[in-house]
Amino acid sequence: MDFTKTVDSLISDLFMDLELATDDRTHPYRHGYLATTQVDHIPAQRTIIIRRILPGNEILIFTDYRSPKVQEIKQQPQVGLLFYDPNKKLQIRLQATAKIHHQDALCLREWSKLSDHRKTDYQTTLPPGADLLEEDLVSSHDPTLGSNFFSIISLTPLNIDVLELRPNGHQRIVGKYENREWTGRRVIA
Ligand SMILES: Cc1cc2nc3c(=O)[nH]c(=O)nc-3n(C[C@H](O)[C@H](O)[C@H](O)COP(=O)(O)O)c2cc1C
Repeated sequence: MDFTKTVDSLISDLFMDLELATDDRTHPYRHGYLATTQVDHIPAQRTIIIRRILPGNEILIFTDYRSPKVQEIKQQPQVGLLFYDPNKKLQIRLQATAKIHHQDALCLREWSKLSDHRKTDYQTTLPPGADLLEEDLVSSHDPTLGSNFFSIISLTPLNIDVLELRPNGHQRIVGKYENREWTGRRVIA
């Protein structure tokens, strides 16, 4: 990162980079790690793909409505999202407020852009995490389920913590997102 820039513009640049990742399967930020809180208060993390960045730095992730993370988010909408670019040695930690979209205009819009193959991810007859019976070697799909279980997790950032490891001195910035604006500062790494 170009640390001669203002902290606010560095954060805007990072979001532009995240947006590039939504269109580039090889981008280091394509995969992030989403942390939620289970109903028993134990943290849960999983790999996710960021699918879209909307105006207002809203990050969209697609998921199956029946997956446990959906209930976890409904119960505790504050979540963590982590990215790491090993080439730049750059870590991005976000805390965000998550919202579940299900069978609304946003879901319909995104569903219509998915290929038939991608749609099958959300058309398993059994919910994610259900036991596979011995006779079922693979989970079965039912295309007539349509978009019933397709849902979107939208994340609105609360704050960001960016750390870049450098041989001549690590660099770190933190920022807060309020009223659709970032305010940030440099801190000790
Ligand atoms: C490379 C990779 C990408 C993934 N992307 C997603 C994703 O975008 N959305 C999703 O719901 N699960 C995704 N998964 C699966 C999750 O990591 C997780 O196993 C699944 O969603 C169940 O999570 P839960 O039981 O905590 O709800 C991905 C897994 C891998 C390995």
